Amino acid sequence: MNDLPNGCRLIQLTIRGDDRGRLAAIEGEQDVPFAIARVYYVYGTKPNVTRGLHAHRALNQLAVAVAGRCTMLLDDGADRHAVVLDDPSLALTLPPMVWHEMSDFSSDCVLMVLADAPYDESDYIRDYAEFLKLAVSPA
Ligand code: TYD
Repeated sequence: MNDLPNGCRLIQLTIRGDDRGRLAAIEGEQDVPFAIARVYYVYGTKPNVTRGLHAHRALNQLAVAVAGRCTMLLDDGADRHAVVLDDPSLALTLPPMVWHEMSDFSSDCVLMVLADAPYDESDYIRDYAEFLKLAVSPA
C-alpha cells in the first residue's frame, strides 16, 4: 500500500462511526505530519480533464477524495505510480518534488487538499523538463 514514489504515503484516517454515519477529523501535526496553513478543494471537474501537472519545490500537501473518485499520477523523476483515490478514509501525502497529475475524475469527485503553506506561485514547477533536471540534481 505504501510502495509509492519519494515519500508519498497513503494514510488511514481514524473514522468515528456510529449509527448516524461516519466522521473523519484531520488535525494538523497529529493526523497529518505538518501544521495546516491552507485547505482547497477541486470539484465539478469536467470529463477528460487532467489537473495538477506540476511539482512543488517546498510545499507539503495531503489529498483526500472526500467524495467520488479520481486518479493521481505520482512521479518523483525516477518512478511513476498511479493511485486511485476513492475512499474518504484514506489520505495521500504529497511531499515536495513529486510531479503529480490528477485525472479520471468522477462527476461527483471532491478532492480536498491540505497544505502547509499559503498559495505561492513561485513554489510551483510547471515545466516537466525543469522538474526532471531538479529531481536529478537539486539546486
Ligand atoms: P491550478 O494550479 O491551475 O490548479 P491545479 O493544480 O488543480 O491544476 O490553480 C487554478 C487557479 O487557482 C490558479 O489561478 C491558481 C489558483 N489557486 C489559488 O488561488 N489558491 C490555491 O490554493 C490554489 C491551489 C490555486
